[in-house]
Amino acid sequence: MIIPIDKMASAVIDVTPWENSTSLYISRIFVPYHYRCKGYGTKLMETTCGNADKNGQTLYVHPTANYGSNVKRLIKFFEKFGFKQVVNAREPYMVRMPSETRHDYS
Ligand SMILES: CC(C)(COP(=O)(O)OP(=O)(O)OC[C@H]1O[C@@H](n2cnc3c(N)ncnc32)[C@H](O)[C@@H]1OP(=O)(O)O)[C@@H](O)C(=O)NCCC(=O)NCCS
Repeated sequence: MIIPIDKMASAVIDVTPWENSTSLYISRIFVPYHYRCKGYGTKLMETTCGNADKNGQTLYVHPTANYGSNVKRLIKFFEKFGFKQVVNAREPYMVRMPSETRHDYS
């Protein structure tokens, strides 16, 4: 999913099937540096979570510093949308179960 911001910039989220069609992995969410903290990331997440709820799909994400973000801040960002950290995993990741009650994302 892409949200065009202006002629030069877009916000993007990529989700890929994970293990089977009931799970999706967020392989990328990216808002260009100068456009952050303006709500684009939230819009991408709300749409993705709303679709996952409708389809009964579990979402996974791997918060990473690879794109220059602070991981603790990223974890808080994903927690806002219902993701929970999986502890004791060899590599830390977050999971969000689908909910019939959670989505009033419109
Ligand atoms: C994480 C990201 C998608 C958020 O998009 P956004 O449009 O800035 O988000 P919104 O304006 O909707 O919401 C603001 C929230 O985003 C998060 N955020 C914004 N910039 C961030 C950064 N540099 N690092 C971590 N989290 C960030 C924070 O939770 C922030 O809330 P806060 O100010 O209360 O801490 C954006 O920062 C980004 O593209 N980061 C680089 C790519 C990346 O690291 N992707 C995640 C890989 S798993």
